[in-house]
Amino acid sequence: MLTNASQVIERNIELLNQGDGCLVAGLPADDLLQKLPLATGFTWDYSVFRYMQQRNYPSLPFSAEMPKDQIYQRAIIFVPKSREEFRLLLLMLSPLLAENGEIFLVGEKKEGIATAAKSLSDFCSDVEKIDMARHCQLWRGQIKGDMQQPFELSHLVEISSLELSGQQLQVASLPGVFSHGRLDQGTELMLESMSHFSSGRVLDFGCGCGVVGAFTKLRKPAATLVLADCNALSIYCSRKTLELNALEGEVMATDGWSDLRGRFHAIITNPPFHAGVDTYYATTENFIKQSGQNLIPGGYLTLVANAFLKYPPIIEQVFGHCRVLKENTRFRVYQAQKRN
Ligand SMILES: C[S@@+](CC[C@H](N)C(=O)[O-])C[C@H]1O[C@@H](n2cnc3c(N)ncnc32)[C@H](O)[C@@H]1O
Repeated sequence: MLTNASQVIERNIELLNQGDGCLVAGLPADDLLQKLPLATGFTWDYSVFRYMQQRNYPSLPFSAEMPKDQIYQRAIIFVPKSREEFRLLLLMLSPLLAENGEIFLVGEKKEGIATAAKSLSDFCSDVEKIDMARHCQLWRGQIKGDMQQPFELSHLVEISSLELSGQQLQVASLPGVFSHGRLDQGTELMLESMSHFSSGRVLDFGCGCGVVGAFTKLRKPAATLVLADCNALSIYCSRKTLELNALEGEVMATDGWSDLRGRFHAIITNPPFHAGVDTYYATTENFIKQSGQNLIPGGYLTLVANAFLKYPPIIEQVFGHCRVLKENTRFRVYQAQKRN
């Protein structure tokens, strides 16, 4: 199975399969790498990484940073969901390209491929569109020597100070990570609405920069924290946030419940409802459906979501009830307790 963008790569496979070293960054969970025997995949998305691993496709380790010990003749970039993420990818990848190495950029029109191609000109010369099909475009450019600067991810980390219910928190964030440099209003509403914080094992699911987990630990220092996200940049930021506030906690990669083990006294989450540029509810719906069996009796699920999202019937189905802790015109905070 190939996505539309991968099908466009497949149409141009002869161009891409020559010479050594091809890095495919931001690729979707499909079987493109089968067609590119000389290529190595790289992704910040743990669900895609798991897909590659299960099929034994060659990939770089799952990490926010690319290892710096290999040089590639060319890179194929699938246009990421945000401009900031694209720029970050280009900054990271450019020094890993050979002199005069090529960048191919592919993506759907609705993903903003045309705008991304314009930004490609900052890093590449001779940028040209080389194919168009399946609502997608494929662009090519040659890396500019002066854009191959040494790259240090930690230099791009922004630190902001938050005050929440009288408590100070330093938050580390990176471009492309959810609510970069600010506190999400839904998250704020949820944290304000919580009068009770469990001191047992607490899961911050979809932790982003780690605000929810770090705030919980400040409120309940005895809590054992697990922060989990599918995005490598989020995991990197959450670790930094805990470090900045001298807080202890496990920060790990997961796709939904895939890698989470053991049961929790509390699950606190501002869960995802996007995959790339598309609205996508399945991750959170499945997460809620399995949350009952992953809570100890008496444990709580607390979740904030846009008010229009239809999560209450699913929460009721799992827990037999669903309380609205707090709401405003945009967001609702739901809570349910696992009965004994
Ligand atoms: C709405 S953001 C909330 C971030 C953070 N908790 C906050 O409140 O600022 C949702 C987070 O879920 C993560 N996410 C998306 N899909 C996921 C999945 N399948 N498994 C785990 N995390 C996921 C995203 O990377 C993002 O960081």
